[in-house]
Amino acid sequence: MDELKGLILSGGAGTRLRPITHTSAKQLVPVANKPVLFYGIEALVEAGISEIGIIVAPETGDEIRAAVGDGERFGASVTYIDQDQPLGLAHAVLTAEEFIGASPFVMYLGDNLLREGITDLVRAFRESEPDALILLTRVDDPQSYGVAELDGDQVVRLVEKPKDPPSDLALVGVYMFKASIFDAARAIEPSGRGELEITDAIQALIDGGDKVEPHIVQGWWKDAGRLEDMLDANRLVLEDLVTRIDGELIDSQVDGRVVVEEGAVLERSVVRGPAVIGAGTRISDSYVGPYTSIDRNVVITGSEIEHSIVLEGSSIRELHTRMEASLLGKNVSLTRSDGMPKTLRFLVGDNAEIAIP
Ligand code: DAU
Repeated sequence: MDELKGLILSGGAGTRLRPITHTSAKQLVPVANKPVLFYGIEALVEAGISEIGIIVAPETGDEIRAAVGDGERFGASVTYIDQDQPLGLAHAVLTAEEFIGASPFVMYLGDNLLREGITDLVRAFRESEPDALILLTRVDDPQSYGVAELDGDQVVRLVEKPKDPPSDLALVGVYMFKASIFDAARAIEPSGRGELEITDAIQALIDGGDKVEPHIVQGWWKDAGRLEDMLDANRLVLEDLVTRIDGELIDSQVDGRVVVEEGAVLERSVVRGPAVIGAGTRISDSYVGPYTSIDRNVVITGSEIEHSIVLEGSSIRELHTRMEASLLGKNVSLTRSDGMPKTLRFLVGDNAEIAIP
């Protein structure tokens, strides 16, 4: 088989993570303080794929270019491909036709995370050389995904977000194709939601007698497109954390697997892992509990935070109660004026400011 290329889809509108995604690409929201998108790039490079195209949208393309650069620090060479409108995954594939040429390729959705990476799957694709290789995993809510119906190890039918799912096998957002996918993508019509669905294009391959090989994903998989999934992904990545304390601890206690980056300061605080504290962050008289990622240059005083993601530049002061299952955007300021202790839940956008009575 010819050398494989990589195609990461990092365009789209990101409506389900608004307001975070009013100002930022959803693929750049950090999981364990690293943008989701970087996990995809690293997975491709680890599988031996270094020529990578990244599909970007007009609104967020510059931000993604700035974050990823030319790919050198990942050991990759990155080409950016503009998709003017989010007209669907198969439309994104067609947009990349010139970049892909005649090469087989791995298409990776920029908001997907796979614990086991894709190295073994890329090897299987190279060995058995099907027309397409798809990844599947069992989910509780198949209506939210593309769903596959299998007969033994044959794919019989694929349907996008069916109301009445034929199985609980969801399509994972990593696909391997040969150039035959371009004709299939040209042959389909937009779906009910007005998009050219990759699911329909793969169905067109099946209808044309092409070989589509299904693989069930081992290890966890997350589509980090919604708040709950983002927090879940954060929890799962933090499970594998290895303790490293490079910052300063003053009268503070760190339990379990915790990373404290250089330049971070903890004073009179307790951090119970798994948790990560970013560079330049200052935590005073506070408790940070399991499954929490605090980004760079955050200030936390007199507060308790658990199972949450806090983006860079934010401040949380004197909550005097526990914040949990929350995602705070960049430069968010959260302060308490007075009031009863209650559990708080937030999905707060960048530059928001909140004072709780
Ligand atoms: O995550 C797996 C699911 O991904 C599959 O089960 C579905 O079959 C598949 O259609 C897809 O569903 P989503 O509705 O979750 O796709 P979403 O719109 O979130 O787009 C996935 C990624 O592709 C995301 O990073 C944005 C990017 N994208 C999306 C569109 C529609 C583009 O780059 N261009 C686009 O036109």
